[in-house]
Amino acid sequence: MSAEREPIGVIGTGYVGLVTAVGFAELGSDVVCVDIDAEKVARLERGEIPIYEPGLAELVEKNRERLTFTTDIAVALERARLLFVAVGTPPTYSGDADLSAVHAVVAAMPASDRHALVMKSTVPVGTGAAIKRAFVEQGKPGFRYVSCPEFLKEGTAVADFLRPDRVVVGDDGDWAGDAVVELYRPLLNAEHGGKGPAAPLGELVRTDIASAEMVKLASNAFLATKISFINEIANVCEETGADVVEVARGMGLDERIGPRFLNAGIGFGGSCFPKDVTALKQLAGNSGYHFQLLNSVIEVNELQKRRVIGKLEKHLGTLVGKRVALLGLAFKPNTDDMREASSLVLAARLQAAGASVVAFDPISAAVAKPLLGGVELAGSPLEALTGADAAVLVTEWQEFRDLDLGVVADAMAGDVLIDGRNALDGAAAAAAGLRYEGIGRPAPRPAAQPSSAVGV
Ligand SMILES: NC(=O)c1ccc[n+]([C@@H]2O[C@H](COP(=O)([O-])OP(=O)(O)OC[C@H]3O[C@@H](n4cnc5c(N)ncnc54)[C@H](O)[C@@H]3O)[C@@H](O)[C@H]2O)c1
Repeated sequence: MSAEREPIGVIGTGYVGLVTAVGFAELGSDVVCVDIDAEKVARLERGEIPIYEPGLAELVEKNRERLTFTTDIAVALERARLLFVAVGTPPTYSGDADLSAVHAVVAAMPASDRHALVMKSTVPVGTGAAIKRAFVEQGKPGFRYVSCPEFLKEGTAVADFLRPDRVVVGDDGDWAGDAVVELYRPLLNAEHGGKGPAAPLGELVRTDIASAEMVKLASNAFLATKISFINEIANVCEETGADVVEVARGMGLDERIGPRFLNAGIGFGGSCFPKDVTALKQLAGNSGYHFQLLNSVIEVNELQKRRVIGKLEKHLGTLVGKRVALLGLAFKPNTDDMREASSLVLAARLQAAGASVVAFDPISAAVAKPLLGGVELAGSPLEALTGADAAVLVTEWQEFRDLDLGVVADAMAGDVLIDGRNALDGAAAAAAGLRYEGIGRPAPRPAAQPSSAVGV
């Protein structure tokens, strides 16, 4: 066990909490992980990982000695000064963030001059200020507060923690902010005392609490805007004969734009983008500002999920009695997270239109099952495709990219393949006799085309 690294507590052991805990353990800290879900804690104590996240199980195993799992917050308070908060902040019906779990943590803190809460959960701007006021009202004025928003991506969360682009620390310039920076030091670039230019290390952004809170919301809102933007370009491409994949490539080579988050598809989902975009829109509205752009980002995303129905109807006519196979359910590959997944909307719309829906996902079937009433879950892609009138690629798992499209065509009863992520080889699909349609792309020619060199 490390004598030098500061021990920490992590409250909430979901995607963010568990990765944060294991990441800091890997850097040498002893970590007390607290969760109110006793079953989850028991599973973690047995060495079971409740979520699917590449590399996480191995890292938990490697750092088992440094990790304590408990439902008792007193253990964390006794062993650590810094308590990282990673509880959920889901949307309420109004779209505001539900901060009840955060408030429960604040209320559970004792009067102390020795401790600080370090907020990893995504919260509206002003939450830190409100929590500091609550500490004073609750007779705990010495309790410190730091905003340290999390930017990890599900599917690459462990790598993101260990190689952050940036570490944002918003604080009042006291010991707690210094201690958080110190914990992250090995991951920061040389200018901030990290390991130097050999490894791609993160930039430190040390700022005030409100600005740190806004960095998180604004970052997610910007990425969501980029996705809705390229989806609208894709929709115009469909009307005009341009190919959005070529367009995105040509745009992305401009370093002011960059290539990422320019993949047209059937819309964004997940536990963060939809809720954070809505929360920022609500936050602006509650402050008297109408955030017009974000309204459109949300609306475009909702419509984008439903455009697949129109594509299917174009090829099949009525969907009544048609069997449609969904390839993928998770909101993106390499995760089992089904929160706000496009597949949920799609399955419900297909069923409402009279289709029967069969689906396959390599990892998330168990998580998805209770959410997908009436959807048949298959044990393999081919089982899902067998006898289907149409197939829709919903999540671009590698397993689907690797499918032999000739075998797919043979298995299906019909021939319609909608590629909701532009992940498949359209020319190969057409050569296999499938009516292939991507998002924002012209119909492919059956023979494989050499990729065109676009001069920009
Ligand atoms: N998932 C992501 O990719 C991601 C990325 C960046 C930021 N975030 C933000 O991080 C926060 C956590 O997200 P998540 O996906 O890890 O959530 P999650 O639902 O996977 O995990 C939250 C955990 O907190 C526990 N919990 C709830 N109330 C508690 C309490 N009072 N005491 C102790 N434990 C409690 C729950 O039992 C659960 O295990 C959210 O605010 C989210 O917006 C998430």
